[in-house]
Amino acid sequence: MGIRMKSILVMGIIGLIAIVAIGVTSYKLSIDNAMKENQVKTHIILNYAMSTMDYMKKVQKPLVSQLIESDRFYPELQSGFVSARGTFELFQKAYPCYTFRQATLDPLNPYNKADQQEVALIQKFKANKGLKSEEGIMTRNGEEVYYFAQPVSVDNEGCLRCHGDPVDAPKDQVEIYGETDGYNWKMNDTVAAFVIYIPTAAAIKDAQTLSGTLVAIAAIGMLLTLLGIWIFLNTSVVSPIVHLAERTEHFSLGENLDDPIATKSSGEIGVLANAIERLRISLVKLLK
Ligand code: HEC
Repeated sequence: MGIRMKSILVMGIIGLIAIVAIGVTSYKLSIDNAMKENQVKTHIILNYAMSTMDYMKKVQKPLVSQLIESDRFYPELQSGFVSARGTFELFQKAYPCYTFRQATLDPLNPYNKADQQEVALIQKFKANKGLKSEEGIMTRNGEEVYYFAQPVSVDNEGCLRCHGDPVDAPKDQVEIYGETDGYNWKMNDTVAAFVIYIPTAAAIKDAQTLSGTLVAIAAIGMLLTLLGIWIFLNTSVVSPIVHLAERTEHFSLGENLDDPIATKSSGEIGVLANAIERLRISLVKLLK
């Protein structure tokens, strides 16, 4: 095997290993990165939803209760949960892939009824009161999603006015939601979980595109390098050696002995050419 082929083979194998390493590492890193991004997004969205709820509770609710009759209850004006759900419905029109759930074991509004996976989450929070949040990847409705969940507990007696005995609940609420579900909650009980879901497919696709692009760039770079090496070896090493070999062969047969070997090369090839030239001169002298 020639010097060109050997060099290309060695460089090609090293390059291929490097490309595979680049592909695997960049894919892993960009998946990790995408998951971190999902994590940050879920935290931001949940915190924002809870802030809209807090604003309703702390600022709007007291003002609204001064304006309306004391025995009336308008959920849209006085319930942070209704306001957060409504705000998110509007947000979802712009970002349909995000989901916010006020998943509840026994809700007033059937829309908030926890599904099987959410029930498992709430049970986990119930069993471990110290657990402040849960997050990770799960499959939901056949789709892989990143989720971030926080428990909701009955943390003050005020909750029980509307979620305790239905007899104490505002009559407007009973009229809207009925008196069977969403009542008889107990103080300090974990009744629900706020959960944000984001599908991971987009992030995974981005990661694949990124590592695919990196691999393609590396492959093109390697091919160009190999081509460069081939051309360099051809012009600077192989052709001069073949030429010198032919000349030496001719000298050995006594041919072209008057034709000196001229070289511009200053490297090893030049040294070899000069040595053969001295050999030619000695040969000519000897023959004379
Ligand atoms: C003035 C009445 C009222 C009070 C007080 C109240 N809620 Fe509610 N809550 C509601 C109504 C009405 C809904 C229905 C929301 C909807 O339609 O999405 C609701 C919904 C919820 C939900 C979603 C599940 C469901 O029932 O549909 C949770 C969880 C919840 N409330 C927890 C609490 C907690 C915890 C407190 C105390 C910090 C509290 N609520 C205080 C009236 C109230």
